[in-house]
Amino acid sequence: MSVDLLLRNATLPDGRTGIDIACEGGKIVGVERGIEAEAGQVIDADGRLVAPPFVDVHFHMDATLSLGLPRMNQSGTLLEGIALWGELKPLLTHEAVIERALRYCDLAVSQGLLAIRSHVDICDDRLLAVEALLDVREKVKDYIDLQLVAFPQDGYFRSPNAAANLERALDMGIDVVGGIPHFERTMADGAASLKILCEIAAARGLLVDIHCDETDDPLSRHIEALSYETQRLGLQGRVAGSHLTSMHSMDNYYVSKLIPLMVEAGVHAIANPLINITLQGRHDTYPKRRGQTRVPELRAAGVNVAFGHDCVMDPWYSLGSGDMLEVAHMALHVGQMTSRAAMTWCFEAVTTNPARIMGLEGYGLEPGCNADFVVLQAADPIEAIRLKAARLFVIRRGQVIAEGVPRVSALNLPGRPGLVDPAAYAPKAGGVS
Ligand code: FE2
Repeated sequence: MSVDLLLRNATLPDGRTGIDIACEGGKIVGVERGIEAEAGQVIDADGRLVAPPFVDVHFHMDATLSLGLPRMNQSGTLLEGIALWGELKPLLTHEAVIERALRYCDLAVSQGLLAIRSHVDICDDRLLAVEALLDVREKVKDYIDLQLVAFPQDGYFRSPNAAANLERALDMGIDVVGGIPHFERTMADGAASLKILCEIAAARGLLVDIHCDETDDPLSRHIEALSYETQRLGLQGRVAGSHLTSMHSMDNYYVSKLIPLMVEAGVHAIANPLINITLQGRHDTYPKRRGQTRVPELRAAGVNVAFGHDCVMDPWYSLGSGDMLEVAHMALHVGQMTSRAAMTWCFEAVTTNPARIMGLEGYGLEPGCNADFVVLQAADPIEAIRLKAARLFVIRRGQVIAEGVPRVSALNLPGRPGLVDPAAYAPKAGGVS
């Protein structure tokens, strides 16, 4: 057999070790031990973790890298962020949005992040950001799967032209229907917006992704309405509720009814831990709410849960680096998901789970899948999250598109090792004596 690329001695996320991965014509053609093949390129993974690419299923690429434009968010709240974005929107130019988005995509590739779902604000009547991100989707298609959501940031009803603009954006080729019911003027308007938005998606055969209940109000219950519309219209598996932070504050009895409704509707849940641990609970003194939706409970009930980055250096969040392991790291801590199984699952929440939500075809590490994967400086998914491990190789369709150097430090301490590799510090088998 002759192949384009042969990756030797990988550890896979499911725990298999010593695995070779053969790639030909942009596809994976073999995943097993001891593959005998002539290869155009051979990479020795040296027992390290090889995973399918990271997936960020909740992002705002029209706002990314705009931190400080036109000013900083002083209160740190969601509402000041929305107001600040409103100040920036009239100042946006097509070229500047594209330039920032492409720079972010460079960063994403270096982090092994090769699929992104980005919301795009459609409340600017120029639809400038829509046009710009459609251009970006085309420009990056060879290395990033970019899926775009028509997002009425200022409210489907509350913003005068949002309804018309949303239809225009979908006509232009935006992939997914978005919404923000908790920002409408009343709960009733929020529920009404969900009815219309889901009907639009059903009529057009599109997916739905709603900014849903991103509030500390325990009575914000749009996820109930979203689940209802999903099952009513037969949209099971095609609808995601993003944020869902009010679930953190809801009455437990009510949640015991709500989660089964979400399961029945096949609604996906997307938590955005970095942004919501900073935005939520701002009106609390102490105890102060954490503001992450009920991830362990949703997972236990069988809801497909993913973690999104949401923002990087924009009006809502000053930090971030396109690192989905940082996202998983925060979610794990906030959700107190510290069992070995739960920590391993957190890795799935930034890889396979969001890939399901986006409907990515050919995603995975099986023969027949796209030859897309990342070699990490870690032995397993838990170590990858713990270290926010360096990306040593990022491979797309069988080609190396980014290459990193291992993170090591030289020690200058007499009698101690000369080099420290953080991935070499796992406790020895057998535990502490
Ligand atoms: Fe968002």
